[in-house]
Amino acid sequence: MGRQRVLSGVQPTGSLHLGNYLGAIRNWVEGQSQYDNYFFMADLHAITIPHDPKTLAANTYTLAALYLACGIDLNFTTIFVQSHVPAHAELAWIFNCITPLNWLERMIQFKEKALKQGENVSIGLLDYPVLQAADILLYQPDLVPVGEDQKQHLELTRDIATRLNFQFGDPKRSILKIPEPLIRPEGARVMSLTDGTRKMSKSDPSELSRINLLDSPDQIRNKIKRCKTDPIRGLIFDDPTRPECHNLLTLYTLLSGQTKAAVAVECQDMGWGQFKPLLTETTIAALKPIQDKYQAIVNETGYLESVLRQGRERAGEIANQTLKQVREALGFMNYPA
Ligand code: TRP
Repeated sequence: MGRQRVLSGVQPTGSLHLGNYLGAIRNWVEGQSQYDNYFFMADLHAITIPHDPKTLAANTYTLAALYLACGIDLNFTTIFVQSHVPAHAELAWIFNCITPLNWLERMIQFKEKALKQGENVSIGLLDYPVLQAADILLYQPDLVPVGEDQKQHLELTRDIATRLNFQFGDPKRSILKIPEPLIRPEGARVMSLTDGTRKMSKSDPSELSRINLLDSPDQIRNKIKRCKTDPIRGLIFDDPTRPECHNLLTLYTLLSGQTKAAVAVECQDMGWGQFKPLLTETTIAALKPIQDKYQAIVNETGYLESVLRQGRERAGEIANQTLKQVREALGFMNYPA
């Protein structure tokens, strides 16, 4: 038996922050040698809310470079740009025609994003999870690493696959594999620096709420200096009345590579005046190798292009095979010979 296949994607909107890294990408990197991995830049998803054509390509490029800078190893992993494989959009259309509208209307993320968009809600925003289902099912993965907020989309993906298999498949041989979620380990949920009860997020209007992977040491110093804390001396984990304290200790644990128990002992008598500089220096040191590698990658002309060219070929091969099976099952006319 070959290695299990893993697939995931990130939207190229805004820059990657510590939440993306510690909650997702770092886990992909740690597990990558056990699996056959496909990671992509979800640029088609990035236009489901109003976007700037001047920055879309650059953001996609930066995200690819950051994947590699974070340790994605091309021996185990294929990276590619979603819109470079047209099968994503094609399969999404086919799925549109077998997905009941009310499955989409109850998606929590849609309801939240639609509220923020006011009048400006596109069909694409509603259809976002159907495209995500196509992203996933094209590659017949065994596992999809997702955060809490994407669980409902993975559930929908499984429902769409089951429905298509039931309506058009042969009971003995299903067309689409039903993927399982790969839930991240506890402790990797990184919260906002300005509100310890909310997730660190690209869409938070305040830059001070997050540390981006490409932030300079000065930016990191400033953000940690100004982050929300509490007036209590002695820093402890797991006190529900001190969400910021828990979050900052968690960040320190993850970035320093120590155990939670060791950090609990180290910080139990500290005040913020002592802890903040420690967290600052630890963060700067942890991000330095990623930032150096990022610079090396973007400075090497042609390198990233060749990685993404190869990614597009490899991904396209698998995706087109699945699309062909779906087209056949649904009775489309073959391409003329
Ligand atoms: N919706 C995901 C997010 O915002 C990104 C994404 C798009 C994705 N397609 C995917 C994740 C397929 C996993 C699998 O995080």
